[in-house]
Formats: sequence, C-alpha cells, structure tokens
Amino acid sequence: MLPNSFYRYSPLVVPLLVGLMLASPHAVAQATTEPVYSSRADAQAASERGYHALLTVPLNPALMTEQQYFDLWQYWPEPERSKAAAATPDQRRQMMLERYGFQESPDRPGPVPQQFTSDGKGNLSGSCLICHGGPVAGKVVPGLGNSLLDAATFYEDVRRLYAAMGIKRPPVPKTAPNVPEEPVRGVNNAWGEAIAFMLVRDKDLNVIDSPQFATPTADQLDLPVKTPAYWLSKKKSRFYADGFIAKTHRDIMQFTLNFSVPREKVLANEETFKDIYTWINAVQSPKYPYPIDQALARRGGIVYASNCANCHGSYGAGARYPERLVALSEVGTDPVRVRDFPVEFVKHLDASWIGQYGQTPIYLAVKGYIAPPLDGVWATAPYLHNGSVPTIWDLLTPASRPSVWTRTDTGYDQQKLGVEAKSFDKLPDDATAPVQKRRYYQTNVRGFSNQGHQYPPQGLSDDNKRALIEYLKTL
Ligand code: HEC
Ligand code: HEC
Repeated sequence: MLPNSFYRYSPLVVPLLVGLMLASPHAVAQATTEPVYSSRADAQAASERGYHALLTVPLNPALMTEQQYFDLWQYWPEPERSKAAAATPDQRRQMMLERYGFQESPDRPGPVPQQFTSDGKGNLSGSCLICHGGPVAGKVVPGLGNSLLDAATFYEDVRRLYAAMGIKRPPVPKTAPNVPEEPVRGVNNAWGEAIAFMLVRDKDLNVIDSPQFATPTADQLDLPVKTPAYWLSKKKSRFYADGFIAKTHRDIMQFTLNFSVPREKVLANEETFKDIYTWINAVQSPKYPYPIDQALARRGGIVYASNCANCHGSYGAGARYPERLVALSEVGTDPVRVRDFPVEFVKHLDASWIGQYGQTPIYLAVKGYIAPPLDGVWATAPYLHNGSVPTIWDLLTPASRPSVWTRTDTGYDQQKLGVEAKSFDKLPDDATAPVQKRRYYQTNVRGFSNQGHQYPPQGLSDDNKRALIEYLKTL
C-alpha cells in the first residue's frame, strides 16, 4: 500500500532560491500573483512542500486502482503475457516498469511508480512525474524528464483493461478532438492533450461543449516533444521550447484541465501549484557521476566560449544566460513544434484564468527555439527538443547523426556523452509489435527529424569535440 505521505525525501537546499523569488527582475512578478517569500526558510519550506505534493497529491482524476495497475500485465498481448504469468511478482513489477518506462521513487517508499499518486483509498492518478520523473544511467534524478516513457503502450494496455472490466470513463465533450500518442518512446504529445482541454473551456475554465477557438487541424494536435529538465527553469523567464509564455505557476496548471474536472476543483489547487512552481524553480542539476579530465575540460572551456556561450550562456565567474530565441530559419532543427503550434490556442490560454486574463506576457513574434541552459546537460540526453540525437558527439557531428537508433534503458556513453545507443539504416525486420517499434527512434517520421543545429557551421576537429565534451561534463 502506498502511504498517504512519504517520510524520506532529500532536502533540496537552494542557495539561489530566495534571491530569485524575493526580487525577481522580471516584470511579470508585479503584474501577477506569483509566489513571493519573506525569508529563505519560507521559500525552502514551500519548495519542499512542492516536491512532496508531486509525489502525494492527486492532481488528476483517478485512472485505475492500485490493484488494477499491478494486474495490467494480464492485458498484455502474447508472448509478453505468458512471460509475465510465469514470472515472480517482483520480476513482474520490474517487467512493468521496463515496458512503460516507469520508475519507483527514491523519495517515496512502496511499489507504486513515481508516475502515480494515490488518494489513500487505493485509487491512482497520473501525476506530472509521468513525464517529468525520469532516470539517467539507471538512477532516478528529481526534476529530470522521463526519456524512457512509452505513453502509447501504457494507454493501449489501460484501454484493454477498461474494455475487459467494462469500466466506463466520464464522457468526453462531443467537440473535443482525438489526440494521438507518439510512435517513439521518450517523446510525448503533452501539447495535443493540453490544447484539446482548453478548446472546450471558456476563459473562466468552465467546460463548454463548443470550440472556444478555431478547431486545430490534426497536425496542430500532434506536437512531439521530449520533456525538459525542471532545473533549467530557474534561469528562464519564459516556459517551453519556443518560450511562448512568461513563466507562472498558473501556466503549468493547464496540464490538469482534464475534461471531467470542474473549474472549482482546478482552482482549488492553486496554492499547491505555487509550491510546485517554487520547487521547479529551485531544483538543482545533478553532478556528472564519472571521472572528469580537468585539464582537457579547461581546453574545452575555450572551445565552448568561442562557439556556444553566445547562445547557451557562460558559466563560472560572470556567468550569464541570454535566453536567446533562435529563429527556425537559423537553427534549422525539426520545425513541427513551432510551425504547427496553434496560435489561437495561445491567445485563448492567455486570455483565460490560466493567463491571468491577459496579464501574462506572450511571445509570438518570432518562430524559433530557445537555446536552453546547458546545466546538467550530461543528463538530458537524448538531445534537441524532440530528443532526436542520442549523444553530444552526434550533435556535434551533423553529417553522421544516426537516422534510426535504439538505446539501452540504463547504459551511459561517457565518451560520446549521452545515452548508450545503437544505430541502424532502417527499422530492423524483427521489430514487429508496436511496443518493439516504439523502441526505435525513426528520424524520417514527421516531427522526429534530427536536422539542424550545425554549430559551428564549419564543424569542430575531433580533438576539439573531445575537449568540449569534457567541459560540458562540468556544467
Ligand atoms: C504527458 C507528459 C507531461 C505531463 C503529464 C506534464 N508535462 Fe510538463 N512538459 C511536458 C513536455 C513535453 C514539456 C515541453 C513542452 C515544450 O517545450 O513545448 C513540458 C514542459 C513543462 C514546463 C516548462 C519547462 C521549461 O523549461 O520550459 C513546466 C514548468 C512543466 N512542464 C510543468 C509541468 C507540471 C507542473 C505538470 C503537472 C501538472 C506537467 N508539467 C505535466 C510533458 C508533460
Ligand atoms: C546560434 C545559437 C546557438 C549556438 C551557437 C549553439 N547552440 Fe546549441 N542550441 C541552440 C538552440 C536554439 C537549441 C534548441 C534547438 C532545438 O531543441 O530544436 C540548442 C540546443 C542545444 C542542445 C540540446 C539540449 C538538450 O538538452 O536537448 C545542446 C546539447 C546544445 N545546443 C549544445 C551546443 C553546443 C555544445 C554548442 C557549441 C558547439 C552550441 N550548442 C551552439 C542554439 C545554439
């Protein structure tokens, strides 16, 4: 059984927190209701409550009971079902974690994956950590995006469970569009769902069964993105790959607008979301856990300063982060996420309670991607907003990035810096079942291209790449 609250979690001490929250240089702080703390201790307590809430508070409607979760293997297709039937309960639990890309939490005891919270009565809800809780090199790191998540396989199994048990879900508004799940694990379509939720909510967040903005096309509801690390937020003033909106605690509440949740219940969570937001802005990047050649890293620092710092910011004395938005035509990475993102959705979101009725600044003038901070970049592989490049070496070698690749769940490539991956010319013939196919990243699928980001344009020598990689390990 999952206890209602957990008793062992790391104190996430944040020296910068109070500086950021007490005297934000950003204009949003004046115009909105963002949390402000009068002491370091208050900010620290809010941050701890925020992480605790992510692990214990149901922020979404219940998906199923705990028992139904642990019985999900009974709805697996063969041969996986027979294998699970023959396994011990412990092995079976492990098989489920591997199949879906879930993990048990280091900070909450019990067998329920960190991806769910319990209501204490045996019902499980999906939490933000479905996507925002993940491991690197086999170890869960708080705040890391889940690069192993196979949401499509999980929901497929859940639908089979519902069908077999005759479980009826609350009706979905007639005008709500279908939202596809992504064909590759590690990349998800959080936006498709968020856009569908807002389509049928008015500015006060009442569910209204008629479209509140131009109904998005199928392409506009299919926006594959990897889940970014939370620890990057503290350096940013805007959220998301294209920085379309100033960061606020209300904006992240848009991911809890499931059709069946009435507005009052959404609004009732606002104080909890202030705490979650405070934690997100406080969580620290993890240190590189393997040896670093410091002399080589110092050489790499020079390569970084002249080729990367201009966009990604500098570290050490006089550190700065420019939060540069680079136009699509310049960065040249996969265009789908910005090109097909529905502007009408952004305007409606901003005009609603979520956008503080138009008080939250939005940025739509330039279509492009923000050059993210590279703090803890060793842990955020695979790289780019669509997770299309398995290692930094591949990122720095545009002409030979793998077009089809698969990765191990726990391996880490210390030379190339990134996930341990194997590449192929095409999808191997033995990958036939959907769950197997989803383990191969296929860069020829819409939204999954690995093009662009050719910096510096003339390329780097292998020596300089090695030095730069060593330096990136120190960030
Ligand atoms: C289905 C997966 C999924 C779920 C569930 C989810 N997110 Fe996200 N989240 C994402 C993805 C993907 C992005 C990146 C979107 C983009 O950049 O366009 C993101 C971006 C964010 C960001 C912006 C980070 C940045 O640096 O720009 C924040 C903050 C965030 N999510 C908070 C939350 C919170 C809080 C919840 C729970 C209420 C939540 N998310 C639920 C997938 C998810
Ligand atoms: C002209 C600006 C610019 C320069 C110069 C630049 N980058 Fe980037 N970088 C970007 C942008 C924009 C993105 C986001 C693109 C995307 O996700 O589609 C990005 C993304 C990345 C990412 C992906 C981060 C992640 O977690 O997915 C890495 C790593 C990276 N850059 C490293 C570097 C390195 C190393 C250099 C120097 C050799 C460099 N960049 C030079 C603009 C730049």
